[in-house]
Amino acid sequence: MNKELDRFFKKQEELGIMLTYDDVRLRSEHSNVLPADTDPKSRLSKNIALNFPVVSAAMDTVTTASTAIAMAEFGGIGILHRGLSVERQAEEAARVKHYLNGLIPDPITVSPDETVAAVLAKREAKGWRFRSFPVVTAKGEFVGLITGHDFDFITDGDIKVKDAMTPLARLVTAKPKTTLEQAAALMKQHRQKVIPLVDGKKLAGVYVRADLERIMSGKGNHNVDRNGRLRVGAAVGVGDGALLRAAELSKVGCDVFHIDTAHGDSKNVFSTIKELKKKYPKIDVIAGNVSSGDGALRLAKAGADGVLVGQGPGSICTTRIVAGIGVPQVSAVYECAKALRGTGVPVIADGGIRNSGDIVIALSVGASAVMLGKLLAGTEEAPGETRLINGVQYKVYRGMGSLEAMLQNPSSLERYRVSAKKFVPEGVVSTVPYQGTLRAVLEQYAGGIRQGMGYIGAATLDELRKKARLFRMTGAGLNESHPHDVLISHLPPNYSGK
Ligand code: XMP
Repeated sequence: MNKELDRFFKKQEELGIMLTYDDVRLRSEHSNVLPADTDPKSRLSKNIALNFPVVSAAMDTVTTASTAIAMAEFGGIGILHRGLSVERQAEEAARVKHYLNGLIPDPITVSPDETVAAVLAKREAKGWRFRSFPVVTAKGEFVGLITGHDFDFITDGDIKVKDAMTPLARLVTAKPKTTLEQAAALMKQHRQKVIPLVDGKKLAGVYVRADLERIMSGKGNHNVDRNGRLRVGAAVGVGDGALLRAAELSKVGCDVFHIDTAHGDSKNVFSTIKELKKKYPKIDVIAGNVSSGDGALRLAKAGADGVLVGQGPGSICTTRIVAGIGVPQVSAVYECAKALRGTGVPVIADGGIRNSGDIVIALSVGASAVMLGKLLAGTEEAPGETRLINGVQYKVYRGMGSLEAMLQNPSSLERYRVSAKKFVPEGVVSTVPYQGTLRAVLEQYAGGIRQGMGYIGAATLDELRKKARLFRMTGAGLNESHPHDVLISHLPPNYSGK
């Protein structure tokens, strides 16, 4: 609860005024919190944590596997767009899930009767970098492990694997549901580099020390699932199409389904949430978009684990102009977050973010995460086509409701609920400057978020939500906020002008 913020928005509401990012700024508060000491951990949904509160948009010029990998490596998450066939989208999700091997559920195994030379020749031919192989009989029984250590001390290549391996009886093993942390502790305790998980006589996966170290070392602000694999979400849409996608995505370990529609407060969306939750109770479902408290609450009641807020604030959106609807984004996020208080369902502020200061404002008024399109579309990882204009590199960034996206993706037609015969676009095609790697861009946003938290004296996002106080900006105030009365000669990496 933040009574100051409630009072502020109540006053605006009484005046019939809804606000967006440029309409407000945050007050600086007394603070003993240094930006470096802040922790922007958050949640995407009821069961999906984030180490960094940023989500990449489910758009065909923003998120495929490369973006999603970089997002999850930084602690956020990417939502794969659905302008791809069902199979291709599942392949992209699998690419993210296989990128880091926490638990290797289905490791490459060798037979006890193969010779060591044959195993090494196969390794060479296939280009495998690892040298640890579980040994499994033709009947599927796990009988031992052969590792780099064994290979190093073998002089006769004709020796059989069964005579060179460490037999099961002498191995340290663990039960199937062993977590990454438990496996790491076992490795330390027994000085073992590989921990096989054993289910009766069967192998249920292996943990390998080198992989665990990579995941658990500081590189790892990584957003990973309980098996140490990067998390990923995927847009599924509504109805039968959503069920088809969900079936394939669930097979490859997709962590969250996103029911991405332009109008989330509708019966089709509610019934799709219910069906997905019934079929896949262990996979979270986030759904949207809405811009009213009532709509957010209805989605939560239908079973959504996270609610996307934003109708028309996006940089490439024309919904408000074409359809005349939508609520300025800061008020929409506040209203929805207020309506969802006590439900445990997080709000994702989707669209309209133009710089890191806007992210701090969205998080202050109740968002648990922000979804970004434009701010990530210029990165190396984004799938948009690159164009050279007057010697400067740009990438294409387009609305999923733009004519071009609709002509290419049948799923866009469904999202914007237009008939295949009459295209009424709700978005535009644009170019955005090329920005370099996603990591470099996210580092700037992370810095901005931490600085904002420092000014407010909030070490966590919970504290930020409790302490934040807003005031209205005037046009003159906004003008003063940007660089003014100078000719900018060097643009910093975190500012692109007014
Ligand atoms: P930003 O401002 O980050 O917004 O570029 C990204 C969000 O915009 C939404 N989106 C659209 N909205 N017409 C719309 O009205 C469109 O064509 C369109 N395409 C994307 C979407 O919610 C995305 O996350």
